[in-house]
Amino acid sequence: MTSHSVKNINSHSILVGEQVTVNGWLRSVRVSKGGFSFLSVHDGSCFDGIQVIADNELENYEAVTHLSVGCAVSINGELRESQGRGQDFEIQASSIVVVGDVDDPETYPISKKRHTFEFLRTVAHLRPRTNTFGAMARLRHNTAAAVHQYFDERDFMWVNTPIITASDCEGAGELFRVSVLDSINNKQQSYEEDFFGQETFLSVSGQLNVESFCEALTKVYTFGPTFRAENSNTSRHLAEFWMIEPEIAFADLEDNADLAESFLKVVCRTVLDRSLEDLEFFNKQIDNQVLNRIQGIIENDFIRLDYSDAIKELQASKKKFEFPVEWGKDLQSEHERFLTENIFKVPVIVMNYPKIIKPFYMRQNDDGNTVAAMDVLVPGVGEIVGGSQREERLEYLDARMTEPMKEELWWYRDLRRYGTVPHAGFGVGFERILLYLSGMENIRDAIPFPRVPKNASF
Ligand code: 4AD
Ligand code: MG
Repeated sequence: MTSHSVKNINSHSILVGEQVTVNGWLRSVRVSKGGFSFLSVHDGSCFDGIQVIADNELENYEAVTHLSVGCAVSINGELRESQGRGQDFEIQASSIVVVGDVDDPETYPISKKRHTFEFLRTVAHLRPRTNTFGAMARLRHNTAAAVHQYFDERDFMWVNTPIITASDCEGAGELFRVSVLDSINNKQQSYEEDFFGQETFLSVSGQLNVESFCEALTKVYTFGPTFRAENSNTSRHLAEFWMIEPEIAFADLEDNADLAESFLKVVCRTVLDRSLEDLEFFNKQIDNQVLNRIQGIIENDFIRLDYSDAIKELQASKKKFEFPVEWGKDLQSEHERFLTENIFKVPVIVMNYPKIIKPFYMRQNDDGNTVAAMDVLVPGVGEIVGGSQREERLEYLDARMTEPMKEELWWYRDLRRYGTVPHAGFGVGFERILLYLSGMENIRDAIPFPRVPKNASF
């Protein structure tokens, strides 16, 4: 028999009086004295569940009253308008089939009471059954769809860059090694004997590869997993996260900043339409600034200022920071957040950073000291976007590469020898967008199964 999703029913697409079948998991059972019970059934298709009325006409009514939270059921019955508050519809059950029982209700970790997010991380296989993580899963899907839609409508091509790579794009040395050699048992082997015959890693960024497609297809983007072995146990860093990286040819840093601003605005707008129900939940239960902050991105022009001016603003603020504010030092997350949350109160694009703190591929400015880099900072999260105009002139690029780098990245240098053009791009952390949209505190709760130092279970 074909079944109906709770979303279908709640969106009024099925007529009252029709026979429906709904499959899902029990969130609650309330047994009434008068020979009937209320079941709440969720299938994850939307935020709400559906209320099911079971009465003692059912042949297995006695068993139904003993069902516990978490078991899987298949309900058949008549759709009715609900008299109760909180829902438009309910199902008067004519049959309730228990598809998967809960062996030992005492041990089922997801009871109806509120759990801490720390606890739920220890039962990551079951947390999608909670309101928050169901909402997060739908939000993640809708945001990914909005990202692809944004680029598709603007004729960008999605390019799938490799996950296994030989190069460290960001030059920060935060690489996970990929090897079939047995290093634990200390066999003395060389990289020539390894699977790829050379040293290989999980990619920290698809940028270098996507640049090659940019110089052929003009407007491209990557959207995939990236890996960083940075040992920062923060609420903003994952060892495995998803990154969106557009790259545009015949474009400079201003074009890049325009693209980043437009991207964030349009994606927020689209997600607001697609995920309103879940966003309203986050606004009510998690952070009452969620909807305001999303409007803040959509409605405000982002402030653009040079790194040097950002340093001056921070110094003039007289605020005591943990890390010193000084020209030539990277901005720390406390500085970034202070700029966007306290000084400007809108998203900020910081541009033209000192050359010494930025990777080799960024384009050198005429002053000789800075590069055409940009970071977008947003309230509540801090850095959400990092990007730059790329160095398209071979002699300048070479000046920032070591000899081994030149050898290994010979193909990247080739792009500067054959039809090179000014081009630019950026990376957006997908989970950072989700933190912004949901108001959740910890990035470990913005990805289905987080990978962080000392934890890769599930
Ligand atoms: O600033 P990042 O390191 O830039 C790059 O990787 C460039 N190659 C991107 C490009 O120009 N194509 O990273 C980009 C973004 C950051 O702004 C942040 O949002 C996110 O990726 N990010 C992380 N998100 C979660 N966990 C981590 N460990 C992250 N590191 C960076
Ligand atoms: Mg960055």
